[in-house]
Amino acid sequence: MTRTRVLYPLLLCLGACASQPTPVPAAAEAPATPDRFTGRWMGELIRPDGGRRRWEVVLKPQGGSVTGAVYSPSGESPITGGSLSGNVVTFTARGGSYRAELADDRMVLTIPGARGSSQTFTASRVSPDPVPAPATPITLPELKELTPNGLAQRPPMGWNSWNKFHTGINDKLIREIADAMVASGMQKAGYSYVNIDDGWEADRDDQGNIRPNSRFPDMKALADYVHGKGLKLGIYSSPGFRTCAGFEGSLNHEAQDARTFAAWGIDYLKYDWCTAVLAYKNEQMRAAYQKMGEALAAAGRPIVYSLCQYGREHVETWGPAVGGNLWRTTGDISDNWEKMSSIGFEKQQKLDGFAGPGHWNDPDMLEIGNGGMSEDEYRTHMSLWAMLAAPLIAGNDLRSMTPAVRDILIQPEVIAIDQDPLGREGKQVAKAADAEIWVRPLEHDARAVALFNRGKEPMKVSAKWSDLGIGGRYSVRSVWDRSDRGPAGTEYVADVPPHGTVLLRLEPGNGKAKPRPRSGARSMR
Ligand code: GLA
Repeated sequence: MTRTRVLYPLLLCLGACASQPTPVPAAAEAPATPDRFTGRWMGELIRPDGGRRRWEVVLKPQGGSVTGAVYSPSGESPITGGSLSGNVVTFTARGGSYRAELADDRMVLTIPGARGSSQTFTASRVSPDPVPAPATPITLPELKELTPNGLAQRPPMGWNSWNKFHTGINDKLIREIADAMVASGMQKAGYSYVNIDDGWEADRDDQGNIRPNSRFPDMKALADYVHGKGLKLGIYSSPGFRTCAGFEGSLNHEAQDARTFAAWGIDYLKYDWCTAVLAYKNEQMRAAYQKMGEALAAAGRPIVYSLCQYGREHVETWGPAVGGNLWRTTGDISDNWEKMSSIGFEKQQKLDGFAGPGHWNDPDMLEIGNGGMSEDEYRTHMSLWAMLAAPLIAGNDLRSMTPAVRDILIQPEVIAIDQDPLGREGKQVAKAADAEIWVRPLEHDARAVALFNRGKEPMKVSAKWSDLGIGGRYSVRSVWDRSDRGPAGTEYVADVPPHGTVLLRLEPGNGKAKPRPRSGARSMR
């Protein structure tokens, strides 16, 4: 296939953005011909939070009208009408009216924003050919069950760049995060994956090989550096032709990209649905994920396969069959109590039977340490994820976290619950007003019991063992404060702070509770 070589244009944020209009160079004297607009234009909108969004516009003005399409991070939208006047093309597509004004060899694009606002940024012409990608037909494999890759026998533990840094990432940051993972004690606590999320991608070379952008000058050298610390490197792509932030996706390059990732030394792939919604029907989602699962299996390197399609199409029922080691169960988390607790408490219900060694429900990455929640709320976040046998993928800046945040992330007995070798997920067994009690079965007949207070006032929560289906003799250990509380008796009553958690570990027998040695420090392979 002949591919257009996409040059990375000088991308200017002109704000989100109507309030900061782009300085438009003086218009050329003569009105522009349609040819000067014709082609593929690409630009990047930088939002106030620093997030970048790639936009692509394919324009073909002809005989007084305009055809083409707009490719935004949320999808493709055909141009439904438009006209050319002098140096300006105006057209309509999803969202409203667009304006494209030629400024020398670039184009100043004004796109519709929320509630009647507009946003402006500069785009460059990457091809005079008004042909949008992809140019080759899409093929999908026959559905089958792939042989498990044997990885992630415990929920993966690591770090991912998205929650804190969005697309503002580079080689130096990733190296510093790897350094901090070791220096902070996180590696010792079991964290091992350093995962690059969206924003590393550039374009493809003439053979179709994906290339990192200039912020990642040598991916193989970066992997070597991370491996040199005893850690592992993860990367991100999409089954669509663009990722969610608008960068190059893996559509029609699945096997090639899997080989590239393996050659770089990548150990973990997060594969995010994003614009695949334009290429596939929902019922093709499983096959699209199987295609990359097969590609990874053939790539010659063990790579943890993380599915990210927001829990759609009952992924828990087919995630393992496509080679998935974990699958997101919901949309994106954010750093606030409401979002975290709705994902953790509400949206994991009834999924507990689907998780187990090698294949885990993923309620999304941790927000601990990002500043939007209190310490009690972050302890609840960590406790809840441990009860859910969830992957523990930190999402904060490990280089500058406070000791309190670090202590929440590395508490060994909480991690031991998360990483329990039995691999059974816990679930809610009792609920009264704002109090919830969750139980998780652990190996050797132990139990984790979490007393959650979802309310805004301190609360006494009483766990009566017989009501929770827990019979026999146990001794109780309070996990966060690491203290033995003696024989279980018939119930346990605890004062639980607002939005807080008391996490207990019950060991069979009447003696002193013996916390299991932390099991997460071992390689997850
Ligand atoms: C989606 C995913 C996020 C993150 C971004 C990157 O929103 O759910 O976790 O990977 O895309 O663009």
